[in-house]
Amino acid sequence: MTDLAIFPLSAEHKMIRDAARDFAQKEIAPIAAEFDESGEFPMQTVRKMGDLGFMGIEVPETYGGAGMDALAYVLALEEICKVDAAHGVVMSVNNSLYCHGILKFGTEEQKQKFVTPIASGKAIGAYSLTEPMSGSDAGTMRSRAVCDGNEYVLNGRKSWVTSGPVADYVVVFMMTDPAKKQKGISAFVVDAKTPGFIRGKKEPKLGIRASATSELLFESCRVPIDSRLGEEGEGFKIAMTVLDAGRIGIASQALGIAEAAYEASRQYATQREAFGQPIGAFQGTGFKLADMKTRIEAARLLTYNAALAKENSKQSGGRYSLEASMAKLFASETAMFVTHQAVQIHGGMGYSKELPIERYFRDAKITEIYEGTSEIQRMVISRAELGMK
Ligand code: CAA
Repeated sequence: MTDLAIFPLSAEHKMIRDAARDFAQKEIAPIAAEFDESGEFPMQTVRKMGDLGFMGIEVPETYGGAGMDALAYVLALEEICKVDAAHGVVMSVNNSLYCHGILKFGTEEQKQKFVTPIASGKAIGAYSLTEPMSGSDAGTMRSRAVCDGNEYVLNGRKSWVTSGPVADYVVVFMMTDPAKKQKGISAFVVDAKTPGFIRGKKEPKLGIRASATSELLFESCRVPIDSRLGEEGEGFKIAMTVLDAGRIGIASQALGIAEAAYEASRQYATQREAFGQPIGAFQGTGFKLADMKTRIEAARLLTYNAALAKENSKQSGGRYSLEASMAKLFASETAMFVTHQAVQIHGGMGYSKELPIERYFRDAKITEIYEGTSEIQRMVISRAELGMK
């Protein structure tokens, strides 16, 4: 990995990056292929990541977190994803989609109750926005939350929930006033032990197979009124604000996958010989590596820049949607490009399960889809540039 002149890392940044790299190499690398094959959730290593503080890197220590900054989060996540993107998405959802939202919009009591167990790694969090008939057009959800005395009654079906099968707490978005459309959406933090909270079918997936994804069903699920996050009707804004943070996590994930595929390809190109010389000596391979490396470094700049924009927003209160969307768009398309080239450089071995190259290729695809497709990122970027939103 190249040290970037414009992002000099502090001793603290290097420490967390190295700790994550070390952990990933020692604990995740030996099991990644096996859990990818079985699709089993790697609870033991996920818990260890929590013990090391990786599940709440930007969460203040008072709420069980590591109390570090947004760049530290990105650096650690990148290292985990270089080894296994499935562990990476669990970490990303816990940090960005779950903890970040409650820290930003929650009351003091909600932060203590709902953030501390997740940030300290004792429990797992999830974020539930998508429904079978509402994905990119997230404001058209059908799930309903109806206030009844000092409770809300939740009913609906949510889909594609990362960590849905294992989560202890879920931030969920539901319509409280359908007539108001997006402005009638509210957010709730739901304890998975609540009656009426039902885990639906687990999704069989192409990649990130060791992460667990499922539907969630809410059947007359009663939650206390103080589990509502923010005001009634503020849910869509909360969902979008949180996704800006999430998209930086996915950019880091994509960056990690791309770097792993690149490094394997670079080494292979120096070792594998054809027609009497290492394949890297052929321009057909060397130029591929040049393009892979250049795109990775550009993706890294955008991703670290988005992390710094997020950090600045903690003071200014401003949005960093543009930086986050550009980072996610470019890094995820870079991951697809690089893993595709990596399979090609490795030839038959790239297609074989004996090496992790085919896993990187499968894992890369989801980064162009979840937390907003590439088309949605282009929409966010172009609207911002044209002053249309
Ligand atoms: N931050 C704060 N507020 C925001 C915002 C943001 N990033 N984006 C929009 N808003 C606000 C707008 O300012 C606007 O507020 P006002 O009406 O007060 O001005 C309001 O929200 C509505 O905004 P838009 O008119 O732009 O809304 P839209 O309907 O046109 O949709 C969109 C915008 C960008 C397409 C949005 O719907 C979107 O991001 N869709 C993709 C959803 C997504 O990423 N889903 C993935 C779910 S998570 C997942 O993948 C699973 C997992 O577990 C990992």
